[in-house]
Amino acid sequence: MNAAVRAVVRKGIYHDMEVYGIYHGYAGLIAGHIEKLELGSVGDIIHRGGTKLYTARCPEFKTVEGRKKGIEQLKKHGIEGLVVIGGDGSYMGAKKLTEEGFPCIGVPGTIDNDIPGTDLTIGFDTALNTVIDSIDKIRDTATSHERTYVIEVMGRHAGDIALWAGLAGGAETILIPEADFDMDDVITRLDRGHERGKKHSIIIVAEGVGSGVEIGKQIEEKTSFETRVSVLGHIQRGGSPTAADRVLASRLGAYAVELLIQGKGGRCVGIQSNKLVDHDILEILDHKHTIDHAMYQLSQELSI
Ligand code: F6P
Repeated sequence: MNAAVRAVVRKGIYHDMEVYGIYHGYAGLIAGHIEKLELGSVGDIIHRGGTKLYTARCPEFKTVEGRKKGIEQLKKHGIEGLVVIGGDGSYMGAKKLTEEGFPCIGVPGTIDNDIPGTDLTIGFDTALNTVIDSIDKIRDTATSHERTYVIEVMGRHAGDIALWAGLAGGAETILIPEADFDMDDVITRLDRGHERGKKHSIIIVAEGVGSGVEIGKQIEEKTSFETRVSVLGHIQRGGSPTAADRVLASRLGAYAVELLIQGKGGRCVGIQSNKLVDHDILEILDHKHTIDHAMYQLSQELSI
């Protein structure tokens, strides 16, 4: 997120705007944690994970009263437009603010890659590389001990992290919420691999499918394979952003400011076929992000 915050501040000031940072997300907006930012406010953060503005989940902002307090704070500080960087929760808040008359621009920032209207979300590539690094490390011990490993990854209800990391990591099986699976098929694939001499197997499970620990238990019960489970958890949410994420965040953050300069509000930005795009925030959120089923089929073919 920091690269996007930096781009919004620098682009805005470049175009003679005053830019304010709202700390702790919508909770901070309601509380008035708002500070004017200067060029130097966002120095030396492009390489740092997380967000210098902090963030927080805010149930109060789901209420009309909460959003009214937020809009009052924006007006009190003379703020005329709001760039919201975040995932589906942040987007829902931006959609409501738009409906209540405050111009917002949504910038897709979540490791889940589950925001409609964009091929990629900020943070997804960095999380992917963290998972792939973990798969490669686990593969070393899996090979040495000739074990089967279940690796559970984040993604809330989306399977993108599991699919992309599983394909890149050469996983034998990838379980995602967007594709039904049968445990017997999983076992058959493991047996088939073992018969052709595979010394280990790696199964990637998206958290939206269920518990990696439970799936590991079932595998060990149904096969003779010694099985271990790694739940990667919140390490997927940190680390220095990859070059791809820094560039994506810079492009999307700056484009959000361009839309505000054009007097536009109620939009959300994205990247589609490497082109910057923007969509009506009230309309796009009715669409559902979909998994690339051709990629899922490919992952199954390449791991026979
Ligand atoms: O939406 C991003 C995400 O990391 C999901 O992948 C995960 O399920 C969730 O947030 C975890 O939420 P929290 O940080 O509140 O435990």
